[in-house]
Amino acid sequence: MEKIGIYVHIPFCVSKCKYCNFVSFTNKENFIPEYLKALVKEIELKSKEVKNIIDTIYIGGGTPSCLPNGTISTILNSIKTNFKVDPNAEITIECNPNSVDYTKAQEWINCGVNRVSVGLQSIKQSLLKLIGRVHTKQDYVNAINILHSVGFKNINTDVMIGLPKQKQSDVKNTLLAVAKQNVTHISCYSLILENNTPLYNAVKNKEIKELSEEKAINMYAFAYKFLTKLGFNRYEVSNFAIKGYECKHNINCWNLHQYLGFGVSAHSYFKNIRYSNATTIEDYIALINKNGNAVVEKEKQTINDKIEEYIMLGLRLKNGIDVSYLKEKFDYDILKEKSLTIEKLKKLNLIEIKNNRLYATDLGFYVLNTIILELI
Ligand SMILES: C[S@@+](CC[C@H](N)C(=O)[O-])C[C@H]1O[C@@H](n2cnc3c(N)ncnc32)[C@H](O)[C@@H]1O
Ligand code: SF4
Repeated sequence: MEKIGIYVHIPFCVSKCKYCNFVSFTNKENFIPEYLKALVKEIELKSKEVKNIIDTIYIGGGTPSCLPNGTISTILNSIKTNFKVDPNAEITIECNPNSVDYTKAQEWINCGVNRVSVGLQSIKQSLLKLIGRVHTKQDYVNAINILHSVGFKNINTDVMIGLPKQKQSDVKNTLLAVAKQNVTHISCYSLILENNTPLYNAVKNKEIKELSEEKAINMYAFAYKFLTKLGFNRYEVSNFAIKGYECKHNINCWNLHQYLGFGVSAHSYFKNIRYSNATTIEDYIALINKNGNAVVEKEKQTINDKIEEYIMLGLRLKNGIDVSYLKEKFDYDILKEKSLTIEKLKKLNLIEIKNNRLYATDLGFYVLNTIILELI
């Protein structure tokens, strides 16, 4: 039986960043006790139908680190009591620099968390302010020191590039400061200007100027080269790791492995069906209490959906897609079906095919979305 992952969504944040459209809410802390009860109930009930071993757990958000002491251990204990969790499972928690303290970090490591992802975005105070972050560079350094002091060895830091007013030197200073903290993984996300976020509205109303596309591409090229020089290997378009520290949870999702999602707006992919949960805390709690699940959308994947998704997600990875897997699993010969496009992209030096794998070249990574559109 295939091993599967678990994702738990924590929809609470201390304040809302100006670029973010993840499902997360401020000033809803009074719901935390009820939310926790609902989560535990959802986990218990789901475990009765699923016997697969769990090899990755990802507690994301929102801001899981802003939960009161004891909450993360309650969630993880519930998963471990109800599911068979691989003793070597990768267990990640996402946190903000200003909500990490010694007691929480100790609790996380004691209950089995072995990977921590800290959102920094930038070390430049004026940029942090511009994007609505409420921590300082020093909060980040303190958080990493605390995490190291309790014994965490696998730490990621999220940084953002392509921000309005950001310069290449800002990116360089941020990446240097992060690498100095002995982290094992850096996620380097290019800003997506999400509709109706305060940053989007400020750009639309001409209060802030968006970085030009050319500048944003050059910034990504710079970050890629600089991170490579610092010893971080790009294994996915936005993800860089010291060898051996790639995030298993995300790699499994990109490779279409199955996972169960718990909590508000969590998605699951199990037995060829994609499920999504209710998107407000109130609806989620009410549905769990009434029905034992909070699924509001259910979609059976056709073979074509699966082929498209495999190509779309797989091409984000450095080692790309497995041509023989497509043939054996879905009876789809991409080399034949897309022969003309593949020849064209190869001539342009945007893709390569080696050992039955089709992947984007370094040059191809700059126009990945176009390559994906051509190949699906
Ligand atoms: C779900 S957030 C959780 C992390 C944590 N709450 C924090 O912000 O520190 C994960 C990461 O997604 C990235 N992110 C969020 N919105 C983004 C956007 N619009 N464009 C690019 N990256 C974004 C940020 O780097 C953020 O740290
Ligand atoms: S980026 Fe993180 S802290 Fe900011 S609003 Fe989104 S989830 Fe919350």
